[in-house]
Formats: sequence, structure tokens, C-alpha cells
Amino acid sequence: MQYVPFGKTGKSVSRLGFGTMRLPTVENEEGQSVINRDEAIAMIRRAIDGGVNYVDTAYGYHQGESEALTGLALKGGYRERVMLTTKLPQWLVKEAKDMDRLLDEQLKKLDVAYLDFYLLHALDLAAFRRLKSLGYQDFLKRARADGRIRHAGFSFHDDKDAFIEIIDDYPWDMAQIQFNYLDDETQATLEGLKYAGKRGIPVVIMEPLRGGALANPPPEVQRLIAGNQRGYSPVEWAFRYCGQFPEVATILSGMSTMEQVEDNLRVFERVSPGNLDTHDQAFIKSLKDAYLKRLKVACTACQYCQPCPEGVRIPDIFEIYNEAYMLDCRESLGPRYGNLAKAEGDASRCVACGQCEAICPQQLPIIELIKDIHEEARTHGA
Ligand SMILES: NC(=O)c1ccc[n+]([C@@H]2O[C@H](COP(=O)([O-])OP(=O)(O)OC[C@H]3O[C@@H](n4cnc5c(N)ncnc54)[C@H](OP(=O)(O)O)[C@@H]3O)[C@@H](O)[C@H]2O)c1
Repeated sequence: MQYVPFGKTGKSVSRLGFGTMRLPTVENEEGQSVINRDEAIAMIRRAIDGGVNYVDTAYGYHQGESEALTGLALKGGYRERVMLTTKLPQWLVKEAKDMDRLLDEQLKKLDVAYLDFYLLHALDLAAFRRLKSLGYQDFLKRARADGRIRHAGFSFHDDKDAFIEIIDDYPWDMAQIQFNYLDDETQATLEGLKYAGKRGIPVVIMEPLRGGALANPPPEVQRLIAGNQRGYSPVEWAFRYCGQFPEVATILSGMSTMEQVEDNLRVFERVSPGNLDTHDQAFIKSLKDAYLKRLKVACTACQYCQPCPEGVRIPDIFEIYNEAYMLDCRESLGPRYGNLAKAEGDASRCVACGQCEAICPQQLPIIELIKDIHEEARTHGA
């Protein structure tokens, strides 16, 4: 296992961190999918015995089961061997005292005396400003002063400007971002990562395999990888990409089988800052290009078409469609588009007024495109 210094903690953190969002599951007697407790506990402990010293959970993972399971896995002396993180479910915070109540509930569920890190979960700009108006800074100060938490951070899903606004608002001990070789220009971006680094804020990576998609690439990407003399697997290329940046502290993987734990422990023997040479970097760029070639619609998400007078979320429709093709998972189109329909942003609301087409810098035939995507999504169950 490789380790790097972890900001203000004064400790070293393993480059592989355990994310407890995708633990193995089984069906219970009522036919519900629940965590396979024995297997999940064995996996977390095996990872710690293999050198992992950072564990990430959250209030909502596995329908609220993840924190309790993580607490159980850390019994028997494992708690003392890791830095433990959970997150404030900010969407449940209606008033300032909810933050204290939720943290207390989480400590109880995890059955631990303190957290090494407490993160404001899944911030976008609107959520962040709301928490700010509710006094998140005072809450974090209180929770540190009374010893419930040692360090504070946030996890993030918005764009670079939002990321910088949040970074600049508080002396964070860490920031957690979605980052991988396809997402270096989206979400916080590589530029945001470097900005945090300049401010001395270590960055924790989530979704380094894009939720598993980069582990199972489409055929043309597989061919490129098979032809590379390094012999790295798709997973190793993706982890090495994130691991090359010195601003990155730990890289979370939501491992769902013991084989994945073993594989990742093996890969992270070698994932250290600067672990890719210029040829490797060019190679990863070629992988990204191969993915991008699969894009079906040349939407750049500039948002010029928004707001649509009927509420159609045009860039979101194109993103869902492009990802279904880019990641070779067309079956994702039905559920993802279905969610958009539930939020009343799908193409069925389009009245063909043409306002979007008149302003689209890419001159896309939006009306026809979203109609076709709507039909295709329906064939996938939307
Ligand atoms: N704060 C937030 O808003 C937020 C959001 C997302 C994630 N997170 C945290 O970040 C963690 C990491 O994100 P993530 O789980 O999306 O990570 P990820 O590494 O991008 O995806 C995990 C998935 O990758 C696949 N995988 C992992 N190792 C593999 C291997 N060696 N070989 C083949 N496939 C492998 C598995 O997919 P299969 O099961 O399909 O095989 C696994 O479920 C989460 O677990 C969670 O703790 C936080």
C-alpha cells in the first residue's frame, strides 16, 4: 500500500480508501436487497489488514444500513486503525439544530465516540448557500470543540465555479470530488483539484471508476488497453490516472466483492504521485478520446437553451443519452430518463416552439433529437 501525508491531520493516509456505498447485498426474507453483512465485514477488515486506513460512509448509503454495518466492521480493534468519515445528509437539515441532531444520531449508529472527518454531503451551490445561511460554520466549530469530530470537509457535485466558492468559504480539512479520466473537465475539474491543492486542502476522490463503468469498457477501449505494453487492466489505468496527482490524498473505491478488494490492494501497491510518464498520459488521453467518439449528440451543456419555457431539461436529456452510448450501457437510458420524466423535465413537454434551436451555439436540431431520444428511452422502459 502506498501512503501520502494527509493535510492537517498530521497522519499518512492510504492511497486506497474503502467507500461503503456499494457493499455486497443479498435478498432478505421479505425479498428486499440488504447488505450481506458477513461478506461486507470480511471485505472491510481484509482491506484494513491489507493497509487501507481510510473508510468512508454516509447516512443514506444502502438505505441507511451502511453506517451501522461500518460500525460493526470496525469493532474488534479496527476502529483505531482507520480514519473514519461520514457525512451530514444536508437535504434533511431544515434548521440549525438538525445538524447537531443528525451528527449525534450518526455517532450512535456507528457506535463510535468521534469521527475523524465529517463532511457536508453532496453539496451543490444551492445546498451550500442554504447551509451557510443556517450557520454550518458555527455547527462545525461546536462539533470540533466538543470532540464529536476532528476534521471537517465536504463532498461535492456541481461545477468548478461552485467548487471554488465553497473552497474559499472555510478552512476545510479536505474536499471530496468525483474525478476520473472522463470527468477531468466536468464537476470540480482538474483545475478545481489543483486549486484546492494550492490552498493546502487535500482532495479525496470518489467514483474513480465512474461507478464501475471504467472497469468494463466498450470494445474499442478494450482493444486499446489490450494493445498497450504496460499490461495494466482497465481498473489499473483508471486508478493510476487519479493517483498521479499530488493533490489527491486517498482514492475511494466502492468495492462490492472480495475479489475487487484483493485486486485493488494489489494495484495500490504502485499507485503513487507521478506514477505515469508522458507516454502513459498520452495513452489515457487516447482512451478518453475513444470514449468521447461514442458521443451521439454534440451538446456542450452550455445551457443557452435553458430555461425552456415548458421546463424541458434539454442538456440533461442529451447527457443521459450520450452517457448511455459512451459507456455502452443503453439499459441505463430507461431509468435515468424515467427520473427526468418524474421531475417533469422530459421531452414529452416540448411544444416545438423552437426557442432552443434559435439560440443553440451548436445549431443542434433539438426538437427532433429530443423526440427521438424520448422514443428510444421508452423502448428501454422509461
Ligand atoms: N459524497 C458523495 O456524494 C458520493 C457519491 C458517490 C460516491 N461516494 C463515495 O465514494 C466511494 C467511491 O465511489 P464509487 O463507489 O462510485 O467508486 P468507483 O470505484 O467509481 O465504483 C465502484 C464500482 O467499481 C467496480 N470495481 C471496483 N473495483 C473493481 C475491480 N478491481 N475490478 C472491477 N470492478 C471494480 C465495482 O462495480 P460492480 O459492482 O459493478 O462490479 C464497484 O461497485 C463510494 O463507495 C462512496 O463511499 C460519495
